[in-house]
Amino acid sequence: MRIKSESQAILSELTPSAWQRHHILDLDDFTPEEIELVFQISDTMKEVLGRDIKRVPTLRGKTIVNFFYEPSTRTRASFELAAKRLSADVVSIASPTSSVAKGESLVDTICTLEALGADAMVIRHPQAGAPYLAAQYSQMSIINAGDGCHAHPTQALLDLYTIRQHLGGVKRVKVVIVGDIRHSRVARSNIWGLTLMGAQVVLSAPPTLLPLAWDTSCLPQVTIEPNLAYALEGAEVVMALRLQEERQQDRLLPSLDEYSRLYQLNEERLAKANSSIIVMHPGPMNEGVEITPEVSHGAHSVIGNQVTNGVAIRMALFYLLLSGR
Ligand code: CP
Repeated sequence: MRIKSESQAILSELTPSAWQRHHILDLDDFTPEEIELVFQISDTMKEVLGRDIKRVPTLRGKTIVNFFYEPSTRTRASFELAAKRLSADVVSIASPTSSVAKGESLVDTICTLEALGADAMVIRHPQAGAPYLAAQYSQMSIINAGDGCHAHPTQALLDLYTIRQHLGGVKRVKVVIVGDIRHSRVARSNIWGLTLMGAQVVLSAPPTLLPLAWDTSCLPQVTIEPNLAYALEGAEVVMALRLQEERQQDRLLPSLDEYSRLYQLNEERLAKANSSIIVMHPGPMNEGVEITPEVSHGAHSVIGNQVTNGVAIRMALFYLLLSGR
């Protein structure tokens, strides 16, 4: 293994004296320069991931805990892979098999993991704000891997990075987000990130699936267009969201069939859109509801690239948070 590789030399040049951030909780307080830095370091991480031996010693000796209180496939696996690619020690815990199942509190769990020597904790939790509580009670770096309906900042970063990869940048790009925006932490973090980087965002959903108190005057780059055909006019990106039935207390839709008839991303709708439009979805998908298999696996889809880019983005974040400590 090369100890002082070309990538590490580039990384040390990129090491930012300006990076003061200790946690990644949401994108609402990020600057465009910080996001650009994450992208530049992710480019270098992608170079590492393209090698035969996809590992650098950058975080040797650091310990990262992945603590997931909710199910996850791609976020959990990509955080774990990202930590391993950087040679950190990784412990992954799911709440059903931890002492949470015996009644241990979140604060006690955090203190326990810190006492075991963890430098960073990745947390997914059903309660909005749980990662903020963790950040208050711990010296570890806390990374929010999704908290309730609130935020999923690393998903938004990999989404922005994927748009940059395919369209060359995010500035002035028209992005339609369609689906269950009201319950979507992915939508919230993407709205912060996309508008910060200069995109135009159109939200398309039935009124019952939009946020209850939405004041568009505070985010002038965001508009609402309930008619998906109108929303898609001139769009360069469309991001479909899963209908989050597990978070819906009330019956907010007449039926899934009715929802699909009006909001499903299908070939017929896509044929009327911009011929170079890219189709995104954070996953997991409910194919046949918000998106058809023909579209999710079709020529416009970059959904697989989103997943792939998640590892490079999370490596970049671990590097920024932990390499100088
Ligand atoms: N996008 C996302 O958070 O997927 P998982 O729930 O599989 O992690």
